[in-house]
Amino acid sequence: MSALLEVTELSKSYQTPYSRVSVLESLSFQLRSAEKLAVVGTSGVGKSTLLHCLGLLDRPDSGRIIFQGHDVAELTEDQRVELRHFKVGFIFQFHYLIAELTAVENVMLPLLIRAESRSFAHQQAEKFLEAVNLSHRLSHRPGELSGGEQQRVAIARALVHQPELILADEPTGNLDPETATQVFDLLVTRCHELEAGLVMATHNHDLASKLDRVMTMKQGKLC
Ligand SMILES: Nc1ncnc2c1ncn2[C@@H]1O[C@H](COP(=O)(O)OP(=O)(O)OP(=O)(O)O)[C@@H](O)[C@H]1O
Ligand SMILES: [Mg+2]
Repeated sequence: MSALLEVTELSKSYQTPYSRVSVLESLSFQLRSAEKLAVVGTSGVGKSTLLHCLGLLDRPDSGRIIFQGHDVAELTEDQRVELRHFKVGFIFQFHYLIAELTAVENVMLPLLIRAESRSFAHQQAEKFLEAVNLSHRLSHRPGELSGGEQQRVAIARALVHQPELILADEPTGNLDPETATQVFDLLVTRCHELEAGLVMATHNHDLASKLDRVMTMKQGKLC
């Protein structure tokens, strides 16, 4: 399998009014195409920071992120946005669904952003909601869904544009153990069908051990 991501000597720090907090310190790893990687590590070690850099939501101070052979530092802002919209899917611990929109409308969004037609977006959103067993909740707004259902809508939204890389930041962190396992299994199955790579930050070692590889983050590095 070829490399989907090659991360070399990635460093990232945050400047606060009082000090500079060094989070990622020359971190390097590779993710093969369709590989599923768990990132574990204590709270505050930098898992979310890493995912934000990988998903081009934030910029590292130094180091290289090569996505499918292209150095993302060389992309223009428009190209970064395009890469995010076409190739990356995000799932966060808190679902960040839009409260005013129904489940199906939330899932349509990534396709509408890409200027796909409403009818195509609707059809795909229904298909992906069916894949996470939510065909009976298409018209519910997030406030009318359970936590596990909300997170399954968020998974459908992250996958509907068929990205090649899924970044999941503690996607099951707010769920009871049984629902967490169900949501996790759905995520992994759907990723597998799409042959998408997955980087999942989690505190759940049982779920982490079900993925292809587990890396532990310590002192800014993965080991
Ligand atoms: N915008 C910011 N400004 C300053 N410091 C920040 C900022 N964002 C994060 N940090 C610090 O960077 C460190 C890493 O944060 P990060 O959110 O990546 O950790 P994490 O491993 O995801 O933790 P958790 O498991 O609790 O989600 C923390 O010490 C945090 O306080
Ligand atoms: Mg985090």
